[in-house]
Amino acid sequence: MPDAVLAGVGAWTPPRIVTNDDLAAYLDTSDEWIYSRTGIRQRRIADPGVATSDLAVEAGARALKSAEIDHVDAVILATTTPDRPCPATAPDVASRLGVTGIAAFDVAAVCSGFLYALAAAAGLIATEVAGTVLVIGAETYSTILNPTDRTTRALFGDGAGAVVLRAGRADEPGALGPFDLGSDGRYAELISIPGGGSRQRSTGRPAPDGDQYFVMQGQPVFRHAIVRMAESALAVIDRAGWRVDDIDRFVAHQANRRILVRVARRLGIPEERCVMNLERVANTAAASIPLALADAVADGRLRPGHRVLLTAFGGGFTWGATTVRWPDITPA
Ligand code: UT7
Repeated sequence: MPDAVLAGVGAWTPPRIVTNDDLAAYLDTSDEWIYSRTGIRQRRIADPGVATSDLAVEAGARALKSAEIDHVDAVILATTTPDRPCPATAPDVASRLGVTGIAAFDVAAVCSGFLYALAAAAGLIATEVAGTVLVIGAETYSTILNPTDRTTRALFGDGAGAVVLRAGRADEPGALGPFDLGSDGRYAELISIPGGGSRQRSTGRPAPDGDQYFVMQGQPVFRHAIVRMAESALAVIDRAGWRVDDIDRFVAHQANRRILVRVARRLGIPEERCVMNLERVANTAAASIPLALADAVADGRLRPGHRVLLTAFGGGFTWGATTVRWPDITPA
């Protein structure tokens, strides 16, 4: 049975930078509050008219170039912010990358979406449905945030990251390790967009004002995120046959610096092994792990041979983790 091996990585963020001070100019917030509570200093925001697929195509093209290929057998797009509720955005992204006629679908697991998509891609490779898969995480959260809500506006940014997986052997550099995935739908309301779906539409009444926006109850999410990411990480460390000391780089979903530090502490991973880029890009949901990977490779924090632990937590609730020994690849 073939294993999924990382063959390329790429990322793209929109050029427009919005700092905490920019937000404080029109929201009741401050750089001091946002930075001390989250570790975020700025975020990238897409210009009007730019959709998730536009970012996904940019990141996907860079990942294909990094892998030195121009064709894949499948495209999986993890996103909370598809271009439209229907159809999925992945087929459009695949066609714009010059690959039509292949399997292409979206994965909706909010901030855990990239890990869910990686697992789905590994499954396509293991079952020999696909020999190569482009996995993209892309988000334009700016399109679902309430412009007047400081509790969400300060946290999220737009961006995209992507990897190419190919069929290979478990002992090769870049082979993905075991996966742990989980969910708990009892907490669905704590991270949600209440309006616009069949639950609200089935009432036959228009969505109450504001229900088109993303809402989150930060404190319970904060607590669950720490527990679930640590548990999931431990499960894959154990299944991979690693010890915590073996982990060279810890790349967790970039939700909040305080969350990442606490998960690392629970696991016994020194803080200097944690990859963080949320200071510059904020929380980019499904894009955050591939964006962090691409950034860390580009600036030398992540090098061939490093043993890397990935974990994420998000709406649903959903969570997951996997491991990889980093191969000799560079972002295009
Ligand atoms: O990506 C998916 C997973 N998401 C996460 O993991 C996010 C998890 N949650 C968090 O990161 C944190 O809970 C937040 C950063 C969202 C909030 O931090 P907190 O320390 O839990 O603050 P809080 O929600 O307890 O709010 C404390 C105060 C409140 O005011 P009162 O009620 O004490 O008067 C908030 O209204 O801070 C207020 N507040 C703000 N003040 C200034 C909330 N947002 C802001 C803001 N600027 N942007």
